[in-house]
Amino acid sequence: TQARKLAAGNWKMNGTRAALAELEALARAHPNPSVGILICPPATLIQTASAAMADTPVEIGGQDCHAEPSGTHTGDISAEMLVDAGATSVILGHSERREDHEESSEDVRAKAKAAQAVGLVTIICLGESLAQREANNTLDIIGGQLAASLPDSCCATNTVVAYEPIWAIGTGKVPTTAQIDEVHDFIRTRLIQRFGEAEGGGIPLLYGGSVKPGNAAEIFATDNVDGALVGGASLKAEDFSPIITALE
Ligand code: G3H
Repeated sequence: TQARKLAAGNWKMNGTRAALAELEALARAHPNPSVGILICPPATLIQTASAAMADTPVEIGGQDCHAEPSGTHTGDISAEMLVDAGATSVILGHSERREDHEESSEDVRAKAKAAQAVGLVTIICLGESLAQREANNTLDIIGGQLAASLPDSCCATNTVVAYEPIWAIGTGKVPTTAQIDEVHDFIRTRLIQRFGEAEGGGIPLLYGGSVKPGNAAEIFATDNVDGALVGGASLKAEDFSPIITALE
């Protein structure tokens, strides 16, 4: 596809300062990558990680942000704060946020608008549950999430869409490449319908859910897969590095 390639790691609620050594190892292993490399550590590490990665190709992102720029929201972090800490991107609407914090697609859209307004690349996550897939509702669910979660301000440079079937996250279960292809093709078509060929065709589409060094090459060979959003296998440089190489 015409979209840029991106290997993104989501550390979720894992990692203290000792984990910065993994970033150093990653940067050493990929001094001149031909694809984008992004790590989204917990918020407590963003500032230190972005400082440590400043002269490397490894970019640092957040895992969530609030839709408001500031205010009485204990425990929350604004998009501007992420930028201030050195983040270039933010993951929004991950299924764990949608479930644990009851985030709706409308919430995700408001957050994305706020994040894009301060220059962050928004990685917007979509995905169906196993029950939804078994009921043959996958494309309806993805289409609904896509329409409602993406603000009109999305374009090829400020948006990445990640397809993460909930049943594949952290389970070791991976969809067939035909299943990934079907959903990514559907997302690409909808993006082009809404944002036009140049913008909709240029938004990178990531697959996420049990991506490992052993299955990455096969997944990346699928049409309309421009990279991956990796959880568990992004925690160690020795696991994430071969995934980056498979994308190059
Ligand atoms: O954001 C990442 C995904 O939830 C995938 O996690 O690679 O551990 O399955 P996983």
